[in-house]
Amino acid sequence: MRIVMTGATAGFGLYAAERLADAGATLTIGARNPAALPPTLHGRVAALPLDLDSLANVRTFAAALGEGPIDVLILNAGLQLAKPATSADGFERTFAVNHLAHYLLLRLLAPRLTTGARVILTGSGTHDPAEKTPVTPPAHADAARLAHPETDPTAEKGVRQACFRAYSTSKLCNIMTAREAPRRLSGIDFLSFDPGYVPHTGLGRDNGRVIAALVSYILPLLMKRDRSSTIPRSGQFLADLAIDPRYAGARGDYRSVRGPALLNIEPSALARDDAACARLWDDSARLVGL
Ligand SMILES: NC(=O)c1ccc[n+]([C@@H]2O[C@H](COP(=O)([O-])OP(=O)(O)OC[C@H]3O[C@@H](n4cnc5c(N)ncnc54)[C@H](OP(=O)(O)O)[C@@H]3O)[C@@H](O)[C@H]2O)c1
Repeated sequence: MRIVMTGATAGFGLYAAERLADAGATLTIGARNPAALPPTLHGRVAALPLDLDSLANVRTFAAALGEGPIDVLILNAGLQLAKPATSADGFERTFAVNHLAHYLLLRLLAPRLTTGARVILTGSGTHDPAEKTPVTPPAHADAARLAHPETDPTAEKGVRQACFRAYSTSKLCNIMTAREAPRRLSGIDFLSFDPGYVPHTGLGRDNGRVIAALVSYILPLLMKRDRSSTIPRSGQFLADLAIDPRYAGARGDYRSVRGPALLNIEPSALARDDAACARLWDDSARLVGL
């Protein structure tokens, strides 16, 4: 089984990659620095350069993968910024890295996915206002305004709120992409994954190591207990979603870690808006030049 994965070098994605290698999968990962892989992946995976900050880099990565068929595509990489920033292509960086680059990668690799192949996009419970997480929830999924927040009258003025909203909205876009994809690409299974809150990953690194560490210890104490997870638990679930036959046939299902379980639940009202999902797909295509 050939698996292509982003976000395999740190956090629970690294744990999942280790489990997939243990299971005998042929794993190719996209990594910003393939020469400095975590030691547990050395000699066990193939690594090609991929910086999701640049759409040209995504195209180079897709071409470097070669022509062989792909059975599973795991789109797990993600970032959460502390200060607003712009990608190499001039788009808001969180939206560009977490959503647009993965959208382009999916579109470029779709012709190489086998019949019955599985695609998993890592989303987040922060996409859903009903979850009342500490992260500012999305206001909309209008790709043009998300790419250029300076044109968005609904944009948050505060730096922290703007960065949080960019993050939760990018994860909403991952979930909406998984829902729209089966209507656009036949013969492929699609899932989105909410890992719960997973402390001690690198996600908060842009806030500085001290704040990131404090948040990792404090937040689980303030959250509903079933929303807090661990690197092994969410990493194992991500690996299971990739290869366990019980997840076959998914049509954009949203799988969420709740305590010890991985539940199939409804995402937010906006994520369930089929017209908005279709618009996001088409607008994203225009933004990435398809
Ligand atoms: N932790 C949580 O509580 C939580 C909750 C919900 C959803 N998530 C989502 O889960 C996924 C994994 O997050 P994590 O918590 O495990 O964080 P993490 O430890 O920071 O891992 C993030 C991964 O994404 C990669 N990445 C980041 N920016 C990239 C770029 N420009 N190009 C290529 N790769 C890039 C990182 O690569 P490097 O090693 O090169 O940095 C790393 O492998 C993300 O999509 C995140 O949004 C996390």
